[in-house]
Amino acid sequence: MANLTIRKLDDAVRDELRLRAARSGRSVEDEVRVILGEAVTRLPSEVPATVSAQRPHGLPASASGLARLTLIIGGGIAAYKALDLIRRLKERRIEVRCVLTKAAQQFVTPLAASALSHERVYTDLFDAESEFDAGHIRLARECDLIVVAPATADLIAKMAHGHADDLASAILLAANRPILLAPAMNPLMWNNAATRRNVLQLRRDGILTVGPNAGEMAEAGEAGVGRMAEPTEIAAAAEHILRPPQPRPLAGKRVLITAGPTHEAIDPVRYIANRSSGKQGFAIATAARSAGAEVVLVSGPVDLAEPAGVSVISVESARDMLHRVEAALPVDVAIFAAAVADWRVANEGEQKLKKTAAGVPSLQLVENPDILATISKLKDKRPPLVIGFAAETEHLIENAKAKIVRKGCDWIVANDVSPTTGVMGGDRNTVHLLTREGEGEDISVDSWPVMTKEQVATELVARIAGAVETKS
Ligand code: C5P
Repeated sequence: MANLTIRKLDDAVRDELRLRAARSGRSVEDEVRVILGEAVTRLPSEVPATVSAQRPHGLPASASGLARLTLIIGGGIAAYKALDLIRRLKERRIEVRCVLTKAAQQFVTPLAASALSHERVYTDLFDAESEFDAGHIRLARECDLIVVAPATADLIAKMAHGHADDLASAILLAANRPILLAPAMNPLMWNNAATRRNVLQLRRDGILTVGPNAGEMAEAGEAGVGRMAEPTEIAAAAEHILRPPQPRPLAGKRVLITAGPTHEAIDPVRYIANRSSGKQGFAIATAARSAGAEVVLVSGPVDLAEPAGVSVISVESARDMLHRVEAALPVDVAIFAAAVADWRVANEGEQKLKKTAAGVPSLQLVENPDILATISKLKDKRPPLVIGFAAETEHLIENAKAKIVRKGCDWIVANDVSPTTGVMGGDRNTVHLLTREGEGEDISVDSWPVMTKEQVATELVARIAGAVETKS
């Protein structure tokens, strides 16, 4: 049987467990056993639905593209904190539309909520102005999340029983968006068997909760579990639902990427270059960073913005690039997307070459170091996964297969860069991923459909994450 770590449960569930255990005079572990026993005897008809944070979304939310939230303020002393909550949500770039229950208006005014949210505030189910087109349905659905703060015992009871006799409860009943409650009430009300039943029912219905916390009550001399979670906690919980953290499969991994062209000097003002834009390498750096990797991007001269959170090292020539790549080792993954010049000028002029009567100067070329091959063949510091690129204009797969063996890398991303494809400098790419295990010549080819360079980057990083996980 699976081991359950109580510490991994969320605060509200843990608090509830402790209270239940204290009331029944059992240890928390014994209480969990009893609950599990009860749950198993109720299977399958009463198994709680999984938390419905991903309910179907129908109507569009905010026109600005920002996340939009409907905040229902219930009638309790904690309502004053709801005003601060509006500010904390707006700080996180979440638009807030407030609904105040009748009781809430005893504690805070619609004017204050409106001034802070910069939106009209809604209070009445029978408001002719907003209900002519079923405004409560719009308030329930023209948002990405509904937050109830404070969620009073009364509002919780109404929700649990499906009441809809005022604007707040009608919205909650009509909602097809995730709902987050921040309960707040006197500890005796929170511990009352009716409230416990209602909260349990709502959790089974997929309603999410944050808090309540333990602490002093507004009532003099009273303390216990029942204080509303702090506005920052509620805002963080809301943001977590609205913008769930992305998986970070490359967290803790160091990834090195080369990108862009190199410039090989002819003299102090002229150079040999190529048409590489650096877009694919930069997109890979961004995707690797989003996947949690520490990214070092060694880039030739490009006209691109530095990806956020990536350490960018700018270089000019192939030799500079090699030095900076070597200095960046060790890494877990190295991706060589740069279009490195194969040759440089042997007789680079110290002064600007002049037109003379002697005729056209002759340039002697010498071979540049092959960075990919050099790093692939390292003994000690060879990265566990080395990926090269093969930009070809003919016999793409054949040339790429030969390249993977010749250079000694593990994978090659091959693409056709014939002028008709528009790949060089363009935004799209049609690639084939060639992979081989160890040093053998058994190479698999996976051809991807035409994609944007960002999509290629995301797909490549997903493959890398899979390979890194398998290797470790
Ligand atoms: O030999 P070719 O230039 O076609 O090989 C392409 C691959 O080798 C790319 O991954 C490129 O970044 C890398 N390369 C390199 N150093 C060179 C030439 C190419 O790292 N001097």
